[in-house]
Amino acid sequence: MSQMRWTMGLMAAVMLAGSAAATAAPVNNCTQSREFEQVKAACKEGGRKAAKRVMKAAVRRARAQGTKLKCKGCHENLDSWALTADAVEKLRPWMQ
Ligand code: HEC
Repeated sequence: MSQMRWTMGLMAAVMLAGSAAATAAPVNNCTQSREFEQVKAACKEGGRKAAKRVMKAAVRRARAQGTKLKCKGCHENLDSWALTADAVEKLRPWMQ
């Protein structure tokens, strides 16, 4: 009987660990990207963390050519990464 209780405890622990991982994942998953292959590929590979690297590279490319871009200029919110109405068109020249 005590063997049985131990097994149940272990199963509960495994299940808890599993659900914690499941709730942590979406924070890093992209929800906005649908237009640019580079961003989509980065999202697929490494979620928002990887997408940020693509974004920062685009911002650098723009700066190098004299266009100052800011994250907030295209994203209404830096938690949800919601896009402004013209974000896609503003980003397009720097994604070629
Ligand atoms: C010129 C406009 C523009 C600027 C500036 C910009 N972004 Fe973006 N960002 C976009 C667009 C458009 C997308 C969606 C790409 C797509 O549809 O594939 C995006 C997507 C993202 C995503 C993926 C979000 C998701 O949930 O899909 C992240 C993260 C992100 N940007 C971070 C940043 C960061 C960090 C900066 C500042 C260094 C930044 N962006 C600056 C336009 C911009």
